[in-house]
Amino acid sequence: MKRARIAGVGHYVPERVVTNFDLEKLMDTSDEWIRERTGIVERRWVEEGETVSGLGQKAATMALERAGIDVSDIECIVFATMASDHEFPGAGCFLQEKLEIPGIPALDVRNQCSGFLYGLSVADMFIRTETYRNVLLVGAEIQSTGLDLTTRGRDMAVLFGDGAGAVVLVASDEPERGVLTTHLHADGKYTKKLWGQYPSVTHHPRVAPEMLEGDGIYPKMEGRYVFKHAVTRFPEVIHEALKATGYSIDDVDLVVPHQANQRITEAVAQRLGIGMDKMFSNIHKYGNTTAATIPICLSEARAEGRIKDGDLVALAAFGSGFTWASALVRW
Ligand code: ACO
Repeated sequence: MKRARIAGVGHYVPERVVTNFDLEKLMDTSDEWIRERTGIVERRWVEEGETVSGLGQKAATMALERAGIDVSDIECIVFATMASDHEFPGAGCFLQEKLEIPGIPALDVRNQCSGFLYGLSVADMFIRTETYRNVLLVGAEIQSTGLDLTTRGRDMAVLFGDGAGAVVLVASDEPERGVLTTHLHADGKYTKKLWGQYPSVTHHPRVAPEMLEGDGIYPKMEGRYVFKHAVTRFPEVIHEALKATGYSIDDVDLVVPHQANQRITEAVAQRLGIGMDKMFSNIHKYGNTTAATIPICLSEARAEGRIKDGDLVALAAFGSGFTWASALVRW
């Protein structure tokens, strides 16, 4: 059976750095509160005119270069994002035009912070079933333009950043290398614990001036509630991947968790019984970039030598939906 091997990984973050001190000027918050509660020091936010597909293109170009694969050899695009450049079509089509590879499928995956792992499982299945040999998987997000940058929205506004990551997956005959297993979950009874209410097709019309008067156009979260679920689901879904493959946590060289909060990452390490040296973290630089987070982490971990050829890497995510997921990858 074919395996999906990660041949190259790349990332791109916007140049504009927004520090906690910058946010102090916009809302009643403090660098101290944000650092202590989340571990975030700064994040990147786009400038006017930057697009989700544009961030994705830059990450994809780096991933293709590192993979040594020509863009014309890509047979399918899977694009994980909560957003697109416009209401529709999905960001995958906008990216495809930029990459100039017409005709191949461009599939958008909308699973918020778990989006990259949902996309990885789809790309993996396309390769395992020998539908496609080379799949470009992108996770890209622009969160900053949708945040409430006043004290009313401070619980959410300080958390999120913009960015993109991408991996090139290629069909391989090596049985113990590549994506070994993926595990996906969702529980829709928690949809409104972390969501964006408006615009909404159930509202007539879906975009109306009164929406701007309230705060319904901004993302909402019951932070503590989400936190409690996250610290349980991360270890649970990592153990599920280990059980499926017969590995133990001691076999894992690096855990790359979705970066939602440094305190969540620390709690997960504790529950897994591993040291923080085995947990990858870059939340201090970028905040939570939703579907872009894991591929940005992979790109940096690879460049820093934290992921070497042959390493066993556990990936896990939790987010809105609620959705949660894991994967085990042998590099
Ligand atoms: N600056 C200063 N004070 C703040 C801020 C802020 N930015 N935000 C909230 N506060 C205040 C609150 O109003 C509250 O004040 P009060 O005690 O007077 O009522 C106090 O700080 C404590 O608020 P909590 O919400 O209890 O703070 P907590 O320690 O839980 O931290 C946080 C909040 C960071 C949001 C945390 O709950 C968290 O990380 N939750 C999980 C996030 C997550 O995993 N999201 C999933 C992925 S996102 C996705 O899928 C799109």
